[in-house]
Amino acid sequence: MRNPIIVALDVPTAEQALALARDVAPAVGAFKIGGELFTAAGPDIIQRVRELGAGVFLDLKYHDIPNTVAKAVAAAVRLDVQMLTVHASGGSAMLRAAEESAQQTAAQSGRHPPLVLGVTVLTSLDGSALAEIGGDANVGRQVERLAGLTVRSGLRGLVCSPLEIVALRQFLPDKVQLVTPGIRTGAEQADDQKRTLTPREAIAAGANWLVIGRPIYAAPNPRAAAEAIWKSLN
Ligand code: C5P
Repeated sequence: MRNPIIVALDVPTAEQALALARDVAPAVGAFKIGGELFTAAGPDIIQRVRELGAGVFLDLKYHDIPNTVAKAVAAAVRLDVQMLTVHASGGSAMLRAAEESAQQTAAQSGRHPPLVLGVTVLTSLDGSALAEIGGDANVGRQVERLAGLTVRSGLRGLVCSPLEIVALRQFLPDKVQLVTPGIRTGAEQADDQKRTLTPREAIAAGANWLVIGRPIYAAPNPRAAAEAIWKSLN
């Protein structure tokens, strides 16, 4: 099995991100760079993490008109990222433009196309928040609707919460990659993640990749924490 652990580099500076990444790189599969680190450290951070030999998941959740998203995706491919996110609620034309741009730019750059992941419903939104913005107040139904749209638009993967994996696996093609945050081992302090699974449970439920932040970077020994998680999967 390839290592499915993606460590979220949720730290404010390039120095902190690189120190963490260097420490845990041998025990993990990839690193996630989100809005905070990318905005503070700039695009160079991607190359510096790539130099450690690890994959990069650029989590900027693009949501704009198709032309703009296609150009942002092309720029991300040229930075050599292996996964990136777009909001499924941007609609099918935007999703198709993102996937086509990833494929075309990768072909032009002689690279493998990154996995373009659709984000369905943010886990911070509940039924009333969804109703407020004009969506289906049933969160599960809205997730399935946007997941179906994502896959029909040609994307090969989705981000989903641990408790959505089983339901999504029932109707999505097996080849669709599911990337899941909300992972907890039980060893860490309680925090704001409410609906969690252990790494083993999430993989057993059908996740392909696990996004793990605090259980690794806030552990007393991040490298040991990452190694223990990887061992628990084998
Ligand atoms: O520290 P923790 O393991 O909770 O980090 C999870 C990572 O996954 C964070 O970068 C967080 O922003 C992201 N994420 C999440 N829940 C979602 C989507 C993304 O926790 N629904």
